[in-house]
Order: sequence, then C-alpha cells, then structure tokens
Amino acid sequence: MSAVDSGAADRTDQRRAARPARDGRVRETGRSRGIDIGAFADFEDRKMRSVEVGGMELGVCRWGDEIFVFRTACPHEGAPLCAGFLQKKLSATLVDEEPRLEVDEESPVVLCPWHRWEFDLRTGEAAWPGFKMRTYRVTVEDGRVLVSMGRK
Ligand code: FES
Repeated sequence: MSAVDSGAADRTDQRRAARPARDGRVRETGRSRGIDIGAFADFEDRKMRSVEVGGMELGVCRWGDEIFVFRTACPHEGAPLCAGFLQKKLSATLVDEEPRLEVDEESPVVLCPWHRWEFDLRTGEAAWPGFKMRTYRVTVEDGRVLVSMGRK
C-alpha cells in the first residue's frame, strides 16, 4: 500500500471514530461497533444487573469469560428479569424409567421472578414454547463491553 493509500485509510478511520453518537457513548474500535456499557471486569461473575441504554433498561449477565445482554422486561407480562434468578440449565429425562437430572454448566438461564418461566441466555428461548426474550449481540474489546442494538 502506498503512503497516499495509507493516509486515505487513516482519514476514513478518523471520520468513523469522530462520528457523534446519540447518547455520546458509542465507541468504534476496529471492525465492530456498539454502545459501551462498561468495563468487563466491573460485571461480577454469575450475577445479573441492569444498565440503561438510550432510555431502555437492559439486563447484563457475566458467565465466566462470556457476557450476555438482554431486554430485562419479560416477554410474558413484563416482569424485570434482572430481579429473577440466574442458574445453570437443568433438564430431566427418564432413563430405564428412572428420572435423571442433568446440569449444563455452559448454559446459563434466567428464571423470571413473577411466574418462574425459564429463558436461555444464549438463545433467548423460553422453556415454554412460543416465547423468546430479546437478546443483543455483544463483544468485548480492550476490556470494554460493547452492545449492538440490532437483532442478534
Ligand atoms: S412475567 Fe415473566 S413469566 Fe410471567
């Protein structure tokens, strides 16, 4: 790449980085872009809490090295999911007519505080068919958590 091409690329990057955001918190780093909701280290492992982004309340859950972001209003009747319970996904099957409980350590689920419906944080799917909580694409760059508000 020539020096002229390199300068053109630098100017393009500066224009992107300088683009104003509605809430002043949009950050662009490399190829990704999203709303900066805080430092990854500030989210306590295996805990949920809510953050406000552009007037909307989002739930955030860190699960080991991963982090999940979701709309905190339950799709059933609007309960605040962050006031619910976080746990590992459990499933029960019958093996030789004996019940067997399995624990999936890699799959966090949220239990709604009002009616205890269960939502998978990876997919948003409810254990009850036909309902899904809204989840958002999230990345961590330079230790910051960035959320894309488009559909996952
Ligand atoms: S409001 Fe969440 S399950 Fe009913």
